[in-house]
Order: sequence, then C-alpha cells, then structure tokens
Amino acid sequence: MNILILGGGGREHALAWAMMQNPKCDKLIVAPGNAGIAQIATCATLDTEDGAAVVNFAEAEAIDFVIVGPEAPLAAGVADRLRDAGLLVFGPSADAARLEASKAFTKEICDAANAPTAAYGHFTDAEAAKAHVRAQGAPIVVKADGLAAGKGVIIAETVAEAEAAIDDMFGGSFGEAGAEVVIEEFMTGEEASFFVLCDGEEVLPIGTAQDHKRVGEGDTGPNTGGMGAYSPAPVLTDEIAERAMREIIRPTMTEMARRGTPYQGVLYAGLMIKDGAPRLVEYNVRFGDPECQVLMMRLGAQALDLIHAAADGRLSEARVNWAEDHAMTVVMAAKGYPGSYEKGSIISGLDAVAEDSFHMVFHAGTKQQDGRITASGGRVLNATARGATLAEARDRAYALVDSIDWPEGFCRRDIGWRAL
Ligand code: AMP
Ligand code: GLY
Repeated sequence: MNILILGGGGREHALAWAMMQNPKCDKLIVAPGNAGIAQIATCATLDTEDGAAVVNFAEAEAIDFVIVGPEAPLAAGVADRLRDAGLLVFGPSADAARLEASKAFTKEICDAANAPTAAYGHFTDAEAAKAHVRAQGAPIVVKADGLAAGKGVIIAETVAEAEAAIDDMFGGSFGEAGAEVVIEEFMTGEEASFFVLCDGEEVLPIGTAQDHKRVGEGDTGPNTGGMGAYSPAPVLTDEIAERAMREIIRPTMTEMARRGTPYQGVLYAGLMIKDGAPRLVEYNVRFGDPECQVLMMRLGAQALDLIHAAADGRLSEARVNWAEDHAMTVVMAAKGYPGSYEKGSIISGLDAVAEDSFHMVFHAGTKQQDGRITASGGRVLNATARGATLAEARDRAYALVDSIDWPEGFCRRDIGWRAL
C-alpha cells in the first residue's frame, strides 16, 4: 500500500512511525513532514489545504490511502476532494468536520442527540451575549465559534472579564472565527480525552489519554498546544468510557448519519468527568497532538489496519489488540514558547538515542540544515516511551529527554503528576 500523510508535526511523525511498522506499507510520503519524518519516509512540499493539488499529487504518486493529520485540510474539504477523485482517505468530510470547526454546530448536535454537555447560549451580537453573561454570572466560558488554533476559549472568572472577551471576539481579534460566540456554563471535574474510530456507522474505541495544556509545572501559566500526555487516562475507567459511548459518542454519530453527513475518521472527545459521569467539553476531528504519540506507541503496527478499516467502512470486523501497558510523551519546546521564541538552534545527541518500540523521540518542529537538526517551531521534540507502569514509562521518557543536548529548549518535569 502506498500511503500519503498530510501534516508535519509530532502527531504525523508518530503516525508515520506506526505505518512503517506494518509490512502492508510499501511506500510512505508525508507532506510537508519534518526532519524526523525524513529519516523514515519521503517528505514532499505540497499545499495541504488545496484539495486539487493534493488530488493531483496523490494520483501522480500512485497513492492508495491518504491520512489527514490536522483539522485545517479537513475543514477546507480536502477529504471530500480526494473521495470525489476515488481515493481512499482517512478523515471526515468538511460537513462532518464542523464538529470541530464550529462550536455552535457541536452544541446543536448535542441538543439533538441529547448528549450531556455544558448549558450554553449562541450569539451573533455582543449586546445579547453580554446580557446573557450578566444573567448567568461568573465563572463562565466564552468561546469563538470557529477554528482559532486553540486560542478561542476564555474561561472568565468575572462578568467584566467575560464582557471584555465578548467585545474582543466581536471586535475581530479572532477574525471570522469570532463572528459568532458560544457562551457556556463553567464545568468542574477532571478532563480526559477519549479517542474512537468511526466509519460512518460503527464506532471503535482506540484509547484514552490526558494531556497537560499549561506551560508551567503544576499546570500553571499560559495555555499551549500540549506539553505532554499519557495513555491510558486512569480517570476514564471502562465504566465511564462505556457511558461516554452510550450517552455521547454513539448518539452523535447517529445524528450525523441522520443528517446525511456521516462521520468517518478519528473522533477525539474531550470529556469532563465528575462523580463518575462524563460530559462533553469539545470534539476534535483529528488525533490530538501530543496525544497521538502515546496512542501510536501503544497501538504500533495495528494502527494502519484499524484506520484503514475505518476509511474503508470495515470497522465492524476490526479488533484492537491492547498491550496492557502505559505510554508517556514529554514535549521539548523552544524557550519562550508559547510566547515568542528563537528558531534555528542546534539539537545534538539525537543520533545516539536508541529507538525501538519502547522508546521514540518524535519530531515536531525540526529541520535538517547542513547535516544538523535544528529547531524550527515552538514544540520541537516529543520524548515518548512505553512501560509496564506509568512510572516506568515516565522514567524512560525523561531518560530520553536527558540524553538530548539542546540548551535552547525546555520541558515540564512533572508530566503525569495527576495520575502518578
Ligand atoms: P476547547 O477548545 O473547547 O477544548 O476548550 C479548551 C479548554 O478550555 C478545555 O480543554 C477545557 O479545559 C476548557 N473548557 C472549555 N469549555 C469549558 C467549560 N464549559 N467548562 C470548563 N472548562 C472548559
Ligand atoms: N493536545 C490538544 C489537541 O491536540 O487539541
């Protein structure tokens, strides 16, 4: 099978690594890829949000299967264009990708599916939104409706803060994404992520994870794309997972199919768990980054069979063979991230790292320059390891971190503290 993966972060390196474990993968191209991916696959330059360009490229390279990593190409309809051209693709249509691309749409689906989630109001003008906030009181959550690169959610501690966020969003600070605003009840509890594959009809759980969104130890400081993750998430017990399937995920899939926009791909449900009951925080229509790294580490070669079955409508035949182990990934980021940071610093020591199915350093923002690996982004490397216990996975992941020489980078030293 000739495979094309769209994307170039740690998530795509982990996907590429898992695909390469499977003997069914004959050729692998990743666009745009990164320096780590280039060591195991061919990297190509391609506008991944231009459906026609991706179709032409896939046809020219005799690609059999396209895997879309990030949400932007999905929201732009790249999966639709590929399917129109008769190509097999893993990832939802633009209509189904609205589960991530529009928060108001997701709330509407939850209403129709009777899925437990935060109470909300949906607004297209600032005055009505502010009146709602004043009536509800704080804390309260203000969300830009559209894709805002993870920055469109404000947890307001006071009414004044919520009003300022509303003015900001309607004032255009999130562009089109803020033209509509969703205001939600503030939920308390413990958050965890639940990943399922969907083929339009069947749903198959493939794992749970928790990530650390804040940049600082003890989960303090500004939000980031994620500073580390581990799988499984102990808070998401089998019983709660079963309940989330029954009350949230299956009803959502049924509602999407009923509307004529069945969902195919991976669905990542962010759940808030309190008193044994899950409520939906958000859906994402892709793997989490860095959650994908720990899921791929645990799934290994079977990941290709599973996602191929999802793309091909054969999930009812698919089974997950669980390794009863734990995985952790620690993100190494450029100093200054998530604020401004330097690019171009040299990373040494990667050649000496012994990588195997228990230890992998996945690359996120890296480049190969004059024979050296340099940092080219905010999140740069993901030191990832498996172990019989979470503590063992953690010790192995931090041993990987400590074998890398990169003075311009940093990481959190407490990934997994809640579970450990
Ligand atoms: P989202 O982009 O919707 O996942 O929001 C980002 C983060 O904001 C979530 O992971 C939660 O930590 C937090 N959040 C979002 N909505 C709520 C809510 N209604 N109650 C409490 N926290 C929330
Ligand atoms: N790590 C969070 C995300 O991928 O959305």
